[in-house]
Amino acid sequence: MNRKVAVVGGAGNVGATVAHAIAAKELADVVIIDIAEQKAAGMALDMYEACPIEKSDARVIGGGDWAEASGADIVVITSGKPRKPGMSRDDLVRDNFAIMESIAPNLVKHCPNAIVIPVANPLDAMAQALLKLSKFPRERIIGMAGVLDSARMRTFIAMELNVSVENVHAFVLGGHGDTMVPLPRYSTVAGIPITELLSKDQIEAISKRTANGGAEITKLVGTSAWYAPGSAATEMVEAILKDKKKILPCSVYLQGEYGKAFTRTVMGATWASAEKKMPKNYFNELKKYLLK
Ligand SMILES: NC(=O)c1ccc[n+]([C@@H]2O[C@H](COP(=O)([O-])OP(=O)(O)OC[C@H]3O[C@@H](n4cnc5c(N)ncnc54)[C@H](O)[C@@H]3O)[C@@H](O)[C@H]2O)c1
Repeated sequence: MNRKVAVVGGAGNVGATVAHAIAAKELADVVIIDIAEQKAAGMALDMYEACPIEKSDARVIGGGDWAEASGADIVVITSGKPRKPGMSRDDLVRDNFAIMESIAPNLVKHCPNAIVIPVANPLDAMAQALLKLSKFPRERIIGMAGVLDSARMRTFIAMELNVSVENVHAFVLGGHGDTMVPLPRYSTVAGIPITELLSKDQIEAISKRTANGGAEITKLVGTSAWYAPGSAATEMVEAILKDKKKILPCSVYLQGEYGKAFTRTVMGATWASAEKKMPKNYFNELKKYLLK
């Protein structure tokens, strides 16, 4: 195929889910990079062997050699320790920052023009770390979390109202953690805001369950989720490769948007959450984008 996506950490749970989904949907050739080289090679071969059944001509290879990733259009970064029950995402910051430091030189050397989708947690911090370490322009570091958090909220709304998930739109901004901001007024079922369909208590419960969505799975499974995170990253890959002009909540570095001046340590999404409310200029910013 004429598109290539590298998945770093692709022998792990989230990475393998992303890699398989990209190949099954025939979005691009896939290169799995992992320090577990042999496992990466084996899982890639297994995915490749699924492609005839999926009717996909994507090629999938895996191993530890970054040279195979060279020229990738997109690099998804799932290399990082996952949470165990009781841990917060922030507990991972030290270990996962060290992993970002170890991969950044390879990223810059082999994939200098790639769009990067950080996934490792704590997501907003790791996205910012990769921005600094790679020195890539901010437009090319787009963290995945908002798509997942919004999908979780959509699921809970659909469960509550017993409607198709396809009829439900939800928007969750803010950081990927305690500062997450579910936006009920902008979450709709067939165009109707959920504030007109559900009671305050129901909305409160949905928002709370959304914010704790990761912890809920971690408690049940013993490690963090991978199916929904994998699907979320894949949606971003597809939107980018097909240039779908899709509007997705992502973690990006702000420079003055939402009326906020550039600050050194604040990722856009995180800032939006700092006040625990709707970013002041959300509508204006979106309108500006839509009308440009
Ligand atoms: N952003 C989100 O919404 C979201 C959702 C779920 C999980 N996560 C995060 O994604 C990360 C991965 O989770 P998982 O469940 O797949 O974990 P996992 O342990 O199953 O997989 C991690 C993989 O990374 C590999 N790895 C470690 N260091 C590496 C390096 N230097 N180079 C290449 N590969 C390396 C490991 O060998 C392993 O295969 C975790 O940090 C988790 O918290 C984020």
